[in-house]
Amino acid sequence: MKVKSTLAVLATAVTLLAGGTGCEHPGHALATVTSSAADAEGDALYVDYCQQCHGVDGEGNDGVGAPSIAGLPEWYLGRQVHKFKDGVRGTHFDDIMGMKMRPMALTLTNDGQVDRIAAYVAKMPAVKTAATLDGDAEKGKAGFGTCVACHQADGSGNEALNAPPIAQTDDWYALTQLTNFKTGVRGAHEDDVEGAQMAPMAKTLADEQAMKDVIAYMRTLK
Ligand code: HEC
Ligand code: HEC
Repeated sequence: MKVKSTLAVLATAVTLLAGGTGCEHPGHALATVTSSAADAEGDALYVDYCQQCHGVDGEGNDGVGAPSIAGLPEWYLGRQVHKFKDGVRGTHFDDIMGMKMRPMALTLTNDGQVDRIAAYVAKMPAVKTAATLDGDAEKGKAGFGTCVACHQADGSGNEALNAPPIAQTDDWYALTQLTNFKTGVRGAHEDDVEGAQMAPMAKTLADEQAMKDVIAYMRTLK
């Protein structure tokens, strides 16, 4: 468990040493050191507070309901952690999984820590986990037409519209979230501006099988 953290410290030490040898731009060397220090802090925070559920490589763990988060964009990660911290997500009576996550977000005591963890997780290589649902991608293609406006035809998301990438999302987690949006467990809090954009979209999917089909299709995109 501590191996990764030790490696990060070593990497920082190496960068510090390299920065001291013959670099003609002290400002540049300083920037490198600062970003390595931030990486090391992000790594330490991840190991201490996130890894037990989201896994060593951010691959997630469906046994505890924790999705794969590796490689999600920094802006999306930071915003979700803030939502959990602020109770905009993970406080609904029926949000059992969100309530597991919320106390973890609260362990990050300041914005700097949230920024560092978001930057760190965003740099982890994305992990696409194996399919667990019996969706029909061919049938789901038509339903995905509604999603393209925000998440794009390749499912890569669109920061300007606050829409995250969804082509690599775990299928079981995507099903929970679409159900949560549809039933008001996610996206109904008065301060959840982005969730309010997504919630009506989930309602375009008639039933659970329609959700599974769309999910199967969106996961063919990556
Ligand atoms: C006790 C287990 C647990 C720990 C520890 C934990 N999480 Fe989570 N996390 C979850 C669960 C469960 C969910 C799914 C919530 C849901 O279904 O809405 C989640 C969801 C998330 C999401 C939302 C992903 C998305 O696609 O919207 C982010 C981001 C996240 N966690 C980041 C973190 C970070 C960063 C840490 C460390 C500070 C952390 N988690 C620690 C259990 C955990
Ligand atoms: C109007 C724009 C819009 C459309 C259309 C849209 N979404 Fe979204 N979607 C969003 C936004 C914004 C979020 C992020 C919500 C947040 O920040 O909590 C989101 C989040 C999601 C998530 C949660 C991702 C995660 O990691 O937790 C899934 C899954 C999703 N959308 C699937 C879909 C599907 C499937 C469709 C088509 C049926 C669709 N979306 C249509 C805007 C949209």
